[in-house]
Amino acid sequence: MPKNMKVLFAASEALPFASTGGLADVIGSLPSALVRNGVDARVVIPCYSSIKHKNSSDITYLCDFTVKLAWRNQYCGLFTAVSNGITFYLIDNEYYFNRQSLYGSYDDGERFAFFCKAVLDMLPRIDFFPDILHTNDWQAALSGIYLKQIYRHGDQRYRPIRVVHSIHNIEFQGIFDHAILGDVFDLPSQLASIVDYNGCINLTKGAIVCCDRLTTVSPTYAKEIRSPSFAFGLQHIINQYSFKTVGIINGIDQDYYNPETDQTIVHRYSSPEGKAKNKLALQHELGLAENVNTPMISMITRLTSQKGLDLVTAVIDEFLCDDVQFVLLGTGDPGFESFFRRLEEKHPSKVRSIIAYDKALSKKIYASSDIFLMPSKTEPCGLAQMIASRYGTVPVVRETGGLYDTVKYYNDVTGDGNGFTFSRYNAHDMLYTLRKAVGLYRDFRDKWNELADKIMKIDFSWNVSAYRYTELYRDVLSLER
Ligand code: GLC
Repeated sequence: MPKNMKVLFAASEALPFASTGGLADVIGSLPSALVRNGVDARVVIPCYSSIKHKNSSDITYLCDFTVKLAWRNQYCGLFTAVSNGITFYLIDNEYYFNRQSLYGSYDDGERFAFFCKAVLDMLPRIDFFPDILHTNDWQAALSGIYLKQIYRHGDQRYRPIRVVHSIHNIEFQGIFDHAILGDVFDLPSQLASIVDYNGCINLTKGAIVCCDRLTTVSPTYAKEIRSPSFAFGLQHIINQYSFKTVGIINGIDQDYYNPETDQTIVHRYSSPEGKAKNKLALQHELGLAENVNTPMISMITRLTSQKGLDLVTAVIDEFLCDDVQFVLLGTGDPGFESFFRRLEEKHPSKVRSIIAYDKALSKKIYASSDIFLMPSKTEPCGLAQMIASRYGTVPVVRETGGLYDTVKYYNDVTGDGNGFTFSRYNAHDMLYTLRKAVGLYRDFRDKWNELADKIMKIDFSWNVSAYRYTELYRDVLSLER
C-alpha cells in the first residue's frame, strides 16, 4: 500500500453527527476501520444546524470562503471535529442546511450541488488533497463529476485524485429536470451527456460514468442491480460499467453495538439469557404484558414498501392470533404509519408501534426482542440483521441483497445457519418462516439459546471489508493516470 494513502469520504450523513439510516452508520464506522489499516481516512458532510446545536463545544471553526455555484456566490463556513479517531469536516451554510430535515426540500439539488463544490474548494484550504475521493450516493455524486470534468483541468493538485463512488441504495438516484443543468448544477451544456439519462439529469448515472471504481454494499446487490427488477431504470448503465463495479459487504461498529458495554440498554449481557431482563423492562416501558416467555418479534425500519411492509400488512393479523408480541419502530410513508398505529389500537396487549426514529430505543428493542423481522423486497446490504444478531436476536429475512449474503437458513439437525430465510416475495412464505422461528423458540429453547449465542459471536465487524476497500483503493491508484 502506498504510504499514508489519503481517502476523503464525502457523504450526506454520518454518525454521530447526522443520521437518517444505514448510510450514516457506514460513514461513521468504515473510516475508523481504514485508519486501523494505516489509511489516512477523513470525512466531509454538511453541517446541518442540528449538528451545530448538539455539538457546539466539540466542533471547531477552521475558516470560511465563497463557493461559486453558477451565478451564486455563497458563503461556506468550514468546521472540524474529531470522532472515533476520525477527522470530520463540516460544510456550513445556514441557508442550505438550517432545515427541518436532512432531505426532502424543493431545492435538494441545489443544496447538495453547493455541498459538492464546497468539498472540492475546501481541499486547498485544509491542505489535504486525497489520493481517493470516495463519494456516497447521489448527494455526493457531483463532487466526483466536478472533479473529473472540471477541477482536474485547473489546479494540478486535483489531477491525480481518483474517485470511488458507492451506491447504498439505487432507488435514490438524484433525478432532476434538464433545465437546471447550468443554472443550478453549474455544468456547461457540453457536459450534458455525462449526466443525461432518460431525458433527465441523473446524478448517479453521472457518478457511474465519471468514477474510477463503482462499489455497492453487498456482492448479491451488485449482481441484482444489473437487472431491471432491482435497478430502478439504471440497469443499462450498471451493465455498461460492470467492469468497474464491485460489491463489498458492509460491516457494523461492533463497539458501538455491543450488549456487554452498551449504556443505552437496561441490562448489559454477554449471553442470550441476559436478554430476559431487558425484555421485561421493555415490556414494562411499553405497557405490554410482562412475560419473559412470550416471543417478541421486532422491526426497526424505514416504513417504505422497499422494506417488505406489504407482506407484513397482509398477514400480521393472522400472525397475531398466536401468543406473540410485535414491536415496530420507524417512520416513513403515512399510509404505513397509520396502518401500524391502527394495528396497535386493534391489538393493544400485543402490539406497540412507535412511529419515530430513535437510536436509543432501537438498541433497547434489539436487546429485548427474540426475533428480528426484515422481509425486504430489495436490500442493498441491511445493517439491522447484523446488529440484531450482535444482540442475540434471531433474524428472519427475505433472501435478497445483503440479507442473502449475511443470513443462512438455520438447520436444527446440524446447527448450521444463523437465522430463518425465505426466498419468494410472498406474505405466506414469510408467515410460514416466522412461525418456524417462533416454533423453535417456544418448543426447543435449548437449541434456540444455542443459536442466539452463536449469532452473538459472528464477526460482522468491518475488518474484512475494510481490507477489501484498502485493496480496491490500491488497485485504483495503480491505474494509469
Ligand atoms: C441504505 C440501504 C441499506 C444499506 C445502507 C448502508 O440504507 O438501504 O441496505 O445497509 O444504505 O450501506
